[in-house]
Amino acid sequence: MRSHRRGRRNLFLAFSALCIFVWYLRSPSLPLDGGRPAGQLESLLLKEHMNAGADTSSLQSNCSFDWSQVDPIHTPGPLKPLPTGRPLSLPRVQHNFPPESPAAAKRREARRSKVRDLFRKNWASYRKHAWMKDALQPLSADYKDQFSGWAATLVDALDTLWIMGLRTEFDEAVEAVANIDFGHSSSPTVNMFEVNIRYLGGLLAAYDLSGRDILLKKAIELGDLLYAGYNTMSRMPVDFISFEQAKTGEGLWVEGTVVSASPGTLSMEMTRLSQVTGDPKYYDAISRVMDVFETGQSRSMIPGLWPMYVSMSERDTWSGNTFTIAGNADSLYEYLPKMYALTGGLEPRYEAMSRAFMKAANDTFFFRPLLPGEEDLLMIGTSTVDGFGNPVLDPESEHLGCFVGGVYGLGGRLFGRQDWVDDLGVKLTHGCIYAYRSMPTGMMPERYNMAVCDSRTRCKWDEKLFDAEKAKRPEWRSHLPLGFTTAKDPRYILRPEAIESVFVLYRVTGRQEFQEAAWDMFTAIDKGTATEFANAAVLDVTRGQYPLPQEDYMESFWLAETLKYFYLAFSPPDLISLDDYVLNTEAHPFRRPTGALPIRRAPQ
Ligand SMILES: *[C@@H]1O[C@H](CO)[C@@H](O)[C@H](O)[C@H]1NC(C)=O
Ligand SMILES: *[C@@H]1O[C@H](CO)[C@@H](O)[C@H](O)[C@H]1NC(C)=O
Repeated sequence: MRSHRRGRRNLFLAFSALCIFVWYLRSPSLPLDGGRPAGQLESLLLKEHMNAGADTSSLQSNCSFDWSQVDPIHTPGPLKPLPTGRPLSLPRVQHNFPPESPAAAKRREARRSKVRDLFRKNWASYRKHAWMKDALQPLSADYKDQFSGWAATLVDALDTLWIMGLRTEFDEAVEAVANIDFGHSSSPTVNMFEVNIRYLGGLLAAYDLSGRDILLKKAIELGDLLYAGYNTMSRMPVDFISFEQAKTGEGLWVEGTVVSASPGTLSMEMTRLSQVTGDPKYYDAISRVMDVFETGQSRSMIPGLWPMYVSMSERDTWSGNTFTIAGNADSLYEYLPKMYALTGGLEPRYEAMSRAFMKAANDTFFFRPLLPGEEDLLMIGTSTVDGFGNPVLDPESEHLGCFVGGVYGLGGRLFGRQDWVDDLGVKLTHGCIYAYRSMPTGMMPERYNMAVCDSRTRCKWDEKLFDAEKAKRPEWRSHLPLGFTTAKDPRYILRPEAIESVFVLYRVTGRQEFQEAAWDMFTAIDKGTATEFANAAVLDVTRGQYPLPQEDYMESFWLAETLKYFYLAFSPPDLISLDDYVLNTEAHPFRRPTGALPIRRAPQ
């Protein structure tokens, strides 16, 4: 307890020093990011912040419980420090964009302001009808708390407000953040994964962009709350934190079996929190979790991949036989190349784990679908290992899987594998664009099936074969476009993964076709999902009779991710450059270290 308190006082001193350091770094006369000139618009935004940043500096956090005072019964022992040394200069991620013609710039800017207008309409409704609640209900203009009642939509959208240059709205939201009470939860348990990616990710990114102290204070409060979720016998994290029990420090029980994405998607946020505070405890906590994943990767039934279900209580990340890279596992994989970028290449294990899964996923999940137009593209299925040890592909695809194209775009660049960009990133992203374009509404269903081609290189359309495939599917419907054998879940629920990959591939390849695809998606989505107040999930994208039946449902990721990616896709490529930032799985940009910035050391 004593050493704990002393640690806090030192942390406070280090924190004050850090604030001065950050202020110095951000002064406009200094080049940001190791001499690479920041984008024009971006430096403008940062300058604006310089001029008006002071008015929120006096904000006090309003929190009824001090999570940093929890005295855990299960202590970690010696802490693993952040990697030290000069970050490696990693290969360039973004395409070298040539100057744009005035006509092209005008068209692009017109599209960009349409996205911004739509965001503003949504934000105004949230502000009026659901302020400080987790979610606006877009049909009834009612609200809902589903993530502990800490204003999920507000926190999740902070950095979008900043990026879109909505300063008045941003300042008002930052003031509101000061009043979020992390000492009280609207539900008895706290969802570790969701709270980590939406709230902690949102606070850290908004802090990285704006430098507002209160955002860091709230990130530390929340980080200490989440840190209490590692107070277990094995120091493995729980999936759900028993809120009141966690306050006592008496220790929590790790659940038996969880989906792998849950413990696998905590690393970036905890690492960033250690980087900006200089306190290694968050990074230490997640390093132990990643040790267990590192051990399991080569032992599983499909080496390189982890099963969909893992047991953190048993530290077992290898024995299951069901595999996917989409829902339930997705961001476990996504975070490996991103951790490599976030730690400046100083943790080689993230490169090794990335290379291994990127090879194995290609061998296991991807297939070329049988299509009437014989387009050369890739879809993503799942796999189950049979009793003889053979992986069996199930060609069922879901919207959640659409992020994978972007991972091959980013990873292909970081690890010098241009074939991963061209053969996999591009073709996987084309697969998602195809699924959007072929539906009468221009939106992709949540879950669907296609027929598999034996060969990826030659795939001649064969109507008889397709008829035989669809005959095997009781869910086939005669109105489905040729090539689709089911639309098992025909909704579109405002998800971001397809535009995420389109955005990444645009930034990585510079190809105009991706901006065009983004515009087609945006117009189709707005046409189908718009309500009087905001935008709503739609029930069936396979039938084009407007108005489409909608659901009174709008997740915070619509404002945090989907609209942000659309906006960035139509922005100058130096706004949130992928060479300066790495985005968490909720599209929250964290600043990447570069040669010019030391990784900040822990206070002594
Ligand atoms: C802190 O929160 C409480 C309860 O929500 C509220 O009554 C109070 O006015 C807040 N204090 C400040 C300084 O905003
Ligand atoms: C992906 O897998 C296919 C089939 O196993 C293989 O032919 C191809 O070379 C792989 N592509 C890359 C980029 O590794």
